[in-house]
Amino acid sequence: MARSKAYVASVGFTKVGDHWEKSLLDLAVEAGSSALKGAPKAKPDVLIVGNMFSAVGASQEHLGAMVAGALGLTGIPAFKVEAACASGASAFNVACSLVKSGSVGSALVVGVEKMRDLEPEEASQALAMAESAEYTQFVGASFAALNGLLARYYMESEGVSRDELSSIPVIDHANGVTAEHAQFRKAITADVVSRSSMVADPLRLFDCAPVGDGAAAALILGDPKAGAGKKLVGVLGGAVSTNEFSVYERKDMLDFRATRDAFGSAMSQAGLSLPKLGALEVHDAFSVVGALSLEAMGLSKRGEGCRDAKAGKFDLRSDMPINTFGGLKARGHPVGATGVYQIAEAFLQLTDAAGKNQVDRPDYVATHNIGGVDTTAAVHVFGRAS
Ligand code: COA
Repeated sequence: MARSKAYVASVGFTKVGDHWEKSLLDLAVEAGSSALKGAPKAKPDVLIVGNMFSAVGASQEHLGAMVAGALGLTGIPAFKVEAACASGASAFNVACSLVKSGSVGSALVVGVEKMRDLEPEEASQALAMAESAEYTQFVGASFAALNGLLARYYMESEGVSRDELSSIPVIDHANGVTAEHAQFRKAITADVVSRSSMVADPLRLFDCAPVGDGAAAALILGDPKAGAGKKLVGVLGGAVSTNEFSVYERKDMLDFRATRDAFGSAMSQAGLSLPKLGALEVHDAFSVVGALSLEAMGLSKRGEGCRDAKAGKFDLRSDMPINTFGGLKARGHPVGATGVYQIAEAFLQLTDAAGKNQVDRPDYVATHNIGGVDTTAAVHVFGRAS
């Protein structure tokens, strides 16, 4: 096993969904304090909050000091990392870098987003901020619309059918049924996806990640002894990469270069080849994004991501299970928190604490979190530490 100098000691998270009665801060504190309780002897030296649009969604900035104070951590450095929907994993990446550099001995990462307080058109506008204000937002293109164009191009150029496109949401919803923290816990068929209401042709309701509230947290340690005998998970590799800002600037829209580069770098730091992975949490905000990501990471050949999913290659009981707690479609996608949920889920898998969603004793799990349309990609590779 590759040596690791950063370890996840504990995680915490809220259920994803409508939390009308809770504020952004309530959610962050619930997840953060649950992670802190999991390793009571370890006091974090720094707090990093992953969040995309608290200013718009909750009229609140300065989340670092605010969440630190509410968690009883006043005095430590605390700040927010923003990288659109990749904010959560980017915050984790910064925290790991600080721990691995030796600048701090431990770090708490909290990913949080409150989306449901916004009217649907306000949420859509907030999400569109991941794209250019001057060009994309200016012409009124929503995030779903951009991904709809991408999906149409993908289907036509690679010969992907509507039925095949529906395959990844079907896997997500099947895995979400037994995931207690998932927003949607109902299995669906490909037919249900392709008959659901149209959002942005060809993308339908079940092709799109829902809007939801949630928070997740992870406590990172540099010294495994500080975990006081608890089961730890090693952070074996981690990388963040970027693509040309907008899809229309790219030579090949179907090449998710940021994902490819970040995944290649994280796997090489971990010294692992693909067959070693026991599970992967993939950022499938829209069906097409899941397929293109699987292809960029080399799990499927070009144009084959949906077909492989349809053939069962990524089912929970396969050799390469994806989105073991329902992924972005069923667990949900509270944008700035999603990357930390994925990391928490990898932790559960590697500590054999995934309950009915446990995959067959994986030694290594990877997580993949995107901001924009593959504009930022953050990938981490985890392994059992003992
Ligand atoms: N599974 C099951 N039910 C779902 C669902 C899903 N994946 N998504 C939505 N629903 C249900 C809702 O619970 C709701 O049911 P109800 O009427 O019984 O309450 C119904 O479908 C409509 O959902 P709602 O959220 O009100 O739909 P909407 O029309 O306001 O929004 C989208 C639908 C797809 C436009 C919106 O969820 C969206 O914009 N998603 C994309 C978010 C995004 O871009 N994220 C960033 C990507 S990186």
